[in-house]
Amino acid sequence: MRITLLGATGNLGRLTATLLASQHPAVQLRLTSHRKEGCSALREAFPQAEVVAADWYDEETLRDAVAGTEKILMVTPDFATDETVVTPNLIRAVRAVGGIKQVVRFIAIPPGFTVDQLTPAQLATRCGAALHTVAKPLLDASGLPITYVNCACWIMFNLPWFMAEDVKASRRLLMPAAADAPRQWVSEDDIAEVVAKVLTDDASRHVGREYLLSAERRYSFAQVAELLSEVLGENVAYVDDDSGVRRAMGDRPRWATTMSVPPSRRSRGVYPRRRKRSFSAPKTVSASWINCPANRTESPRAVERTSVMRSSPSTSCRKRPMTSTGCW
Ligand SMILES: NC(=O)c1ccc[n+]([C@@H]2O[C@H](COP(=O)([O-])OP(=O)(O)OC[C@H]3O[C@@H](n4cnc5c(N)ncnc54)[C@H](OP(=O)(O)O)[C@@H]3O)[C@@H](O)[C@H]2O)c1
Repeated sequence: MRITLLGATGNLGRLTATLLASQHPAVQLRLTSHRKEGCSALREAFPQAEVVAADWYDEETLRDAVAGTEKILMVTPDFATDETVVTPNLIRAVRAVGGIKQVVRFIAIPPGFTVDQLTPAQLATRCGAALHTVAKPLLDASGLPITYVNCACWIMFNLPWFMAEDVKASRRLLMPAAADAPRQWVSEDDIAEVVAKVLTDDASRHVGREYLLSAERRYSFAQVAELLSEVLGENVAYVDDDSGVRRAMGDRPRWATTMSVPPSRRSRGVYPRRRKRSFSAPKTVSASWINCPANRTESPRAVERTSVMRSSPSTSCRKRPMTSTGCW
């Protein structure tokens, strides 16, 4: 069986590729990146996989990437993705090549939440529900064999992304109180495990289903700081401060809202003739994000729970010993 992972250099894509490569040697992996250096990194990390360049703003490359594949995973990055272009491109590519048995789409939509509940400024953040509430209706209407893996929680990789720098530097966990709510935190390892299972099972078991991944407990930022203190053996104070969030997303220069690599470290791209994108992120990305209801409300009701995994920060800390890797 051939499985194509679109976005295989990303956090979840790479973890999924690693699981498939190590635990399912019979799977023929096809991995994609839209950057030359991304393709090189994938070839090095996964020598047994086929690596192809694909840009989901370029439908032809998407068609080539999904041709001859039985299953596809698509994970779109926050802040960068125009789902009104990318998702229709994928739908057309899948239809054009035919024969695809399952498209697995990773989403983050609190149950019952719809695009109408987002203000234009929140939609313009292109983050979380602002991506997925746009993509899902298009996919639902497409008639494609879709499985949604829905994680309307916080993923553990936010800790190193938003917060680690200040925890390391000054033992302070900086996050705005305005965005605080007791949240479910889910490990990216657990998500990858669910995705790998859904991709390697018989497609008929999962097509047409949505799996909501959730955790057993909720933790506020202050409680996360307490957990970090416990793991580190040093006090980590939670401070109401949005500078970490602004650094991670809000006050980034414009290149950072369209590409994940700064221009100085970026090659000209796999497709030098790529057209310009019209998207211009609002200056207030962090403010819009902080006030977005999808970041605050997480219904405990499951659409359909997987029995595969549940996570909590403490179990995930044990799984990935951050102190011993020097992460914190
Ligand atoms: N942070 C959270 O707490 C949280 C919670 C729930 C859900 N989520 C969702 O998780 C998702 C992000 O997951 P992640 O962190 O694993 O993603 P990620 O690391 O940002 O990876 C995204 C992938 O997209 C690829 N990509 C970017 N631009 C592309 C293009 N034009 N064409 C083709 N591929 C392109 C990137 O690869 P190349 O650049 O190499 O092409 C990368 O592999 C988002 O949808 C987010 O809403 C996040």
